[in-house]
Amino acid sequence: MRRSPHLVPGLLLALAALAAQAAQARAQQGPALWPYPRSVQMSPQLLNIAPDKFLFVHGPNSTADPFCSLLQEAFRRYYNYIFGSYKWHHSPANLGDEPQLQRLQVTITLESQCDSFPNISSDESYSLLVQEPVAFLKANSVWGALHGLETFSQLVYQDSLGAFTISKCTITDSPRFPHRGILIDTSRHYLPMKTILKTLDAMAFNKFNVLHWHIVDDQSFPYQSTTFPELSNKGSYSLSHVYTPNDVHTVLEYARFRGIRVIPEFDTPGHTQSWGKGQKGLLTPCYSQRKQTKKVGPINPILNTTYTFFTQFFKEISSVFPDQFIHLGGDEVDFGCWASNPNIQNFMQKKGFDKDFTRLESFYIKKILDIVKSLKKSSIVWQEVFDDKVELQRDTVVEVWKGEEYLEKLKEVTSSGFRAILSAPWYLDVISYGQDWRNYYKVEPLNFGGSELEEKLVIGGEACLWGEYVDSTNFTPRLWPRASAVGERLWSPKTVTDLGDAYKRLAAHRCRMVSRGIAAQPLFTGYCSHEYKME
Ligand SMILES: *[C@@H]1O[C@H](CO)[C@@H](O)[C@H](O)[C@H]1NC(C)=O
Ligand SMILES: *[C@@H]1O[C@H](CO)[C@@H](O)[C@H](O)[C@H]1NC(C)=O
Ligand SMILES: *[C@@H]1O[C@H](CO)[C@@H](O)[C@H](O)[C@H]1NC(C)=O
Repeated sequence: MRRSPHLVPGLLLALAALAAQAAQARAQQGPALWPYPRSVQMSPQLLNIAPDKFLFVHGPNSTADPFCSLLQEAFRRYYNYIFGSYKWHHSPANLGDEPQLQRLQVTITLESQCDSFPNISSDESYSLLVQEPVAFLKANSVWGALHGLETFSQLVYQDSLGAFTISKCTITDSPRFPHRGILIDTSRHYLPMKTILKTLDAMAFNKFNVLHWHIVDDQSFPYQSTTFPELSNKGSYSLSHVYTPNDVHTVLEYARFRGIRVIPEFDTPGHTQSWGKGQKGLLTPCYSQRKQTKKVGPINPILNTTYTFFTQFFKEISSVFPDQFIHLGGDEVDFGCWASNPNIQNFMQKKGFDKDFTRLESFYIKKILDIVKSLKKSSIVWQEVFDDKVELQRDTVVEVWKGEEYLEKLKEVTSSGFRAILSAPWYLDVISYGQDWRNYYKVEPLNFGGSELEEKLVIGGEACLWGEYVDSTNFTPRLWPRASAVGERLWSPKTVTDLGDAYKRLAAHRCRMVSRGIAAQPLFTGYCSHEYKME
């Protein structure tokens, strides 16, 4: 067979094209950090990593318990995230002449917190020095170390030949805001445990640290109380749509192992229809034309039994959930039913409330705040509680969720001396065509012209995924990567705002989440390189 004279140049051209493609692929596969750290110094010098030789080690000078299971478990997880999803044993073994990274040594410099829960004051900072042959991760607490491991995992990528690669670099990092939350709603639709645990995984990938668990509402009461088991027996969608004490414990531990706090919300006095089924007399009977009807309204605020109930109920909640905060809701109270009830009218008259139902609401919420305070817990409330001039505790946090004028509201709340959490621009249950993550990304929470002190009172924000149109079938793709935009806004410095750069990093980060088993939806057209590799 005669060799065509054109074959050789043709082959060279094809090879050149392949090489160019590979170079491009390599550039795309470079580290995509999300959320972007406070300070990154990248060297052009690359190190290779041999997966079968690489080790995470807990440094000898670390102040944390050498057997810290939280760290050991994180090492196992991150090893799998970095190497496990790739067929590394099929990747080329010719790593001989390139400089190598053999270990990541983790040192905790303050006391061990391996057995404790993270809290609002936890130190989440870390620094990472990647050099040959050992990289160092230093953090004051295990919570910072967990964030550092995530960042380290984001630095490692496979080059065009499939070799695991990392750039020499120095990173120092800490969050801009201490409260970075995701709200999940398990009342409108019950979310299976699997979905909740996956959410905690994805939260860790995005350095979120608060799971705001809107656990019950009008529609169903899935929280299984040991003190009042009838609440979920009668108020859940079914006896299998409940979170048992064991389930709750599983969520708390899974979250703790990822540096995530769990804040339960028990929203009252509105949004409580499901409570009425298992706790007779708790809700207000509504009247029509002076006759009692079968309908019930918000919690009945005029009965002593109401407060006896809540004292016992919150006693349980405060011991089940370790966090300092309990969210008490307080939004969207419908005054119509209260207004129809003659006993409530009489009570109002006696108290001199002058037909102002916000004063009755205040009377109620003040009592609930006092109950929670007496249990040595702090409260978070939705903004109406502040708007309706309820007398708050000094440490009550106000969550700003309403409408376009959230910056004005942040100013109002913080200038009154209260701490605030922002969620108004981040209602992810509201969907629209196109890249709405950009709108979430562009929000600047501190653009309200506050003093330094007022700015400090904004402790963070939350991306909220309400459950009316969301269940386990669409929960994860609706949340991610849209919530990632909020994650970067709450973690990264104020100056990290370049949308073009964010798009590139987020597209890669989304693919990384998919490769780690999170069904995050695409940002736009294209494909993920790991899908192509798996062919
Ligand atoms: C541990 O501390 C000792 C004494 O301070 C020091 O000499 C040694 O270099 C440290 N080792 C590491 C790995 O940091
Ligand atoms: C937070 O946790 C640390 C470490 O466990 C503890 O020392 C500190 O007192 C806690 N702070 C609050 C506000 O609970
Ligand atoms: C409810 O409690 C208040 C204050 O302790 C008391 O004055 C009032 O008599 C009680 N009402 C009923 C109906 O027991």
